[in-house]
Amino acid sequence: MKRVLLTGATGYIGSHVAVELTMAGYDVIGVDNFSNSTPKVLGGIEKIIGKRIDFMEVDCTDYAAFEKVFEKYPDIEAAIHFAAYKAVGESVAKPVMYYRNNLDSLVNLIELMTLKGKGANIVFSSSATVYGQPADDELPIRESTPLQPATSPYGRTKQIAEEILQDCVKAYPNLNATALRYFNPIGAHPTAHIGELPNGVPNNLVPFITQTAAGIRECLSVFGNDYNTPDGSCIRDYIYVVDLAKAHVKAVEKMLREGIRWNVFNLGTGKGLSVLELVNAFIKATGVQLNYKIAGRRQGDVEQCWADPAKANRELGWSADTPIEEVLLSAWRWQESLK
Ligand code: WQD
Repeated sequence: MKRVLLTGATGYIGSHVAVELTMAGYDVIGVDNFSNSTPKVLGGIEKIIGKRIDFMEVDCTDYAAFEKVFEKYPDIEAAIHFAAYKAVGESVAKPVMYYRNNLDSLVNLIELMTLKGKGANIVFSSSATVYGQPADDELPIRESTPLQPATSPYGRTKQIAEEILQDCVKAYPNLNATALRYFNPIGAHPTAHIGELPNGVPNNLVPFITQTAAGIRECLSVFGNDYNTPDGSCIRDYIYVVDLAKAHVKAVEKMLREGIRWNVFNLGTGKGLSVLELVNAFIKATGVQLNYKIAGRRQGDVEQCWADPAKANRELGWSADTPIEEVLLSAWRWQESLK
């Protein structure tokens, strides 16, 4: 079995990828320092796949500790790098913490994979945030859409990380790298054994919706309905986390099969949905009343952002087709399971 390392394996995306990679026949080695997750996630993964993945509690910014993973698990052929801080607002307040964590962990992985890996294939968890607010004529967003200056240190760590990978691919002949630019991942595994576990008050829309529906939050604020969109609220490309996870399996397969030196894929549905449309879809899908109000705009929000996923559809033989109602129902079932 081909061995694949997942950093940030107990995180929201990482845990769903651990499930899909295992189901696809890969030997998954997970590492995480639980800075934004809990060991309970390993139990959730186990319930789904019927076994515990190989796992080490490691801070990827600690080179010596990270090196031990490659000694215990030789012959790692590919790695998917999820381990990173990802709260936009927090990154503005704590830029040094973001640059050190998000970039030190990546350069440690690059060094260890090129020195100790059986193959040096890295899939990088990137983000549509690297595009900033594209011009209207650049929507939907393609991989060739020009990047804009990032609007937060978090977004800048994603841009810099992609630059670091391109520099290293040029310098290390055995290194291949693929950046997967996620749009807005939402939902939870259909078994409700794993899902999103936001720390504290959720920044993201869907966990705030499900916590409001569950009575944990008083009221959802819709941040602005005076944008230049059909119903005035912001538009995003909400992609089911399980569909997103399946794209990672396809990306690893393509790298191992074709050894493409550098590649980039936008991972989205190709459909834009407004905040109000998503709120109404949640109410329709779950039958749960949702207390929400229109509030002021949130600083830093882009107005519209959705993907043209044609390249991923074509080159990965993959598409994100799960209907939004089913995705929102999975998020609600997960929230209910947390009671
Ligand atoms: C979506 C829409 C809000 C909360 C961010 C990161 C991105 C990625 C996903 C990091 C916006 C509106 C939200 C609320 C609201 N990675 N909203 N009320 O900002 O598109 O992307 O998260 O995790 O890199 O930038 O996602 O879910 O925060 O917001 O009205 O209580 O929902 O204004 O229009 P975003 P989001």
